[in-house]
Amino acid sequence: MKKTYKIAVMPGDGTGPEVVAEGIKVLDAAAATEGFALEYTDYNMGGELYKKTGDILPDHVVGELRQMDSIFLGAIGHPDVKPGILEKGLLLRLRFELDQYINLRPVKLYEGVTTPLANKGPEDIDFVVVRENSEGLYSGAGGVLKRGTPDEVAVQESINTRKGVERCIRYAFEYCRKRNKNKKITLCGKTNVLTYAFDLWERTFYEVAEEYPEIETDYAHVDAICMWMVKNPEWFDVIVTDNMFGDIITDLGAMIQGGMGIAAGGNINPEGVSMFEPIGGSAPRYTGMQVINPMAAICAGQLMLETLGEEKAAGRIEKAVKKALKDDIKDLAAGKMGYTTSEVGDLIAAYVKD
Ligand code: IPM
Ligand code: MN
Repeated sequence: MKKTYKIAVMPGDGTGPEVVAEGIKVLDAAAATEGFALEYTDYNMGGELYKKTGDILPDHVVGELRQMDSIFLGAIGHPDVKPGILEKGLLLRLRFELDQYINLRPVKLYEGVTTPLANKGPEDIDFVVVRENSEGLYSGAGGVLKRGTPDEVAVQESINTRKGVERCIRYAFEYCRKRNKNKKITLCGKTNVLTYAFDLWERTFYEVAEEYPEIETDYAHVDAICMWMVKNPEWFDVIVTDNMFGDIITDLGAMIQGGMGIAAGGNINPEGVSMFEPIGGSAPRYTGMQVINPMAAICAGQLMLETLGEEKAAGRIEKAVKKALKDDIKDLAAGKMGYTTSEVGDLIAAYVKD
């Protein structure tokens, strides 16, 4: 019997459903060519459901998601819903409850894609950010006193545990070894100011490094990393960092690789259920217009297959995306692709089978 993976699909809000449809089209083409199958279960979470019922993520859904092989997410964010509600109630809740402690964000410039960095090309921009995804400033620790008064006090604490830091760093070293590129890993921190949290990170980093003698280690403060990502992106192979810094530097990463039209990410629990998403958001003003670029969702699908161990199928998707970028799609921006969302999916699905 054919191997079948159970995939939960959450198209979400705005243009999420449009790009997810193209992601699935391409995933199915890759699966068919490599001889396995994907069985999808739709979950219509997001702004519309919340507005209608007040539900964001019912508990029984979380239970069902635990039984899946993976989750494929479109986008969360609705113009009528106050920012933070859906993000916290859905995206962050799933990351925490499913213990997806890695946020994996490849930053790769493909041939034919324009980067805002002058004199940099695909050979210069090819690295991966491993962001800790379950602790740090995202833990929700802290509190507020005397809210709304002149004496208000707001505290938001960054929680860093030895266990959480070590498992993230270990994942990054393993990833670096497997990636087998420059064999270099950079810790991104702020040891000159955040002397408690990044002391833990730094000690753990160099302790784990001893187990990987073939991997070169490097350290840079987060502010400097921002500078080097623009000036010398070719220095990086794998960057490992905490949740907040990782959030910030991966948006910068998305821009230098050509923008949100192509940037994908994975929320990974290496021992459990992971979730893959285009990182660009729901782009509500383009909803239903078939102008948004589905490549980020398609690349999220590629990352999903890679994580499921279907590396050949994932490789097919990457090859197909590269071909479409080189030969067909010159501008990644919404409405400027020269193709509809669905045509881009058709094109890439056809290349996947070649
Ligand atoms: C991301 C997003 C999320 C984050 C938001 C939507 C909560 O920006 O995945 O990078 O901050 O992690
Ligand atoms: Mn972000």
